[in-house]
Amino acid sequence: MTNIHPSIDGIRRILVIGAGTMGSQIGLVAALAGYDTTVQDISEQMLAQAKAELSARLEANVAKGRLDAADAETALGRLDFTTDLDAAAAGADFVIEAATEQLEIKGQIFARLGRLAPDHAILATNSSTLGSSRVAAATGRADRVCNMHFFNPALVMKCVEVVRHPDTSQATVDTAMELARRFGKEPVLINREIPGFIANRLMGAIQREALALSAAGIASKEDIDTTARTALGHPMGPFELMDLVGLDVIDFIAQATYAETGNEADRPDPQVAALVAAGRLGRKSGQGWYSY
Ligand code: 3HC
Repeated sequence: MTNIHPSIDGIRRILVIGAGTMGSQIGLVAALAGYDTTVQDISEQMLAQAKAELSARLEANVAKGRLDAADAETALGRLDFTTDLDAAAAGADFVIEAATEQLEIKGQIFARLGRLAPDHAILATNSSTLGSSRVAAATGRADRVCNMHFFNPALVMKCVEVVRHPDTSQATVDTAMELARRFGKEPVLINREIPGFIANRLMGAIQREALALSAAGIASKEDIDTTARTALGHPMGPFELMDLVGLDVIDFIAQATYAETGNEADRPDPQVAALVAAGRLGRKSGQGWYSY
């Protein structure tokens, strides 16, 4: 361990790894908060798509009068898109990894970051299923590694779960929490890595009940969704939310959680698995529980 205490004031450039749904919007959140931001992905196509989507989001916000045209232009100007991870890591003061949820790939990325990112840089993962302790040792700076878990859509959702592992330093926790605040978020701190952290455990509990009620023919998915909205004030019902998050992601989270806990309650749902096998992944594929 070291005596390096990363501070919020040392953060100029943020690197977001992965230009998928989460990574791209996290990048825009950082740019809108005034940080020079690099979004890195191995795929040029993903980067081009992310750039187009983020420009469209900014334009929509300007059209709605939510954002000044000049501020949108400035935010876009702060965003860089690249495939070159090594160069991007070398210039980063804070890294948020939002690449694919595979331990082997994340392990390789974090080992590279550990070698290439400046010493003061904190290395965070947006993973919802892998605690950062799984990649921390590979970095040689375990004290500056944590989870920073954002929610979909990251531009809108206020929560960021900051999760420490046993060797995460207090300075790292403080800086990650403060950065989330400067992003306009309301971070919560999780002191011990547990499968699903807080939000996905709550979401999982509601989804389990919804799936059981529907499978038993007690009520239609439409009526279950309506009830969540009209009786509980949720912005979306559980089936709508699964379609938003992606049924493949929902299934993956359940598999990872079940592998770790072995609890029957966490067992992946066969209805969800069947939809995934049929290529019905939710909104992103045009069909899931509903058609889009
Ligand atoms: N990306 C960015 N912004 C979006 C968006 C998207 N995909 N979808 C909607 N928005 C914005 C809209 O532009 C709109 O902005 P405005 O207020 O400036 O006009 C605002 O969100 C509200 O959108 P709408 O009026 O179209 O629709 P709603 O009022 O229904 O809100 C919603 C959409 C914000 C998605 C809302 O339905 C909601 O909060 N749903 C629940 C989302 C949720 O629970 N997310 C967590 C999922 S779990 C997760 O991510 C963890 C992971 O590990 C799986």
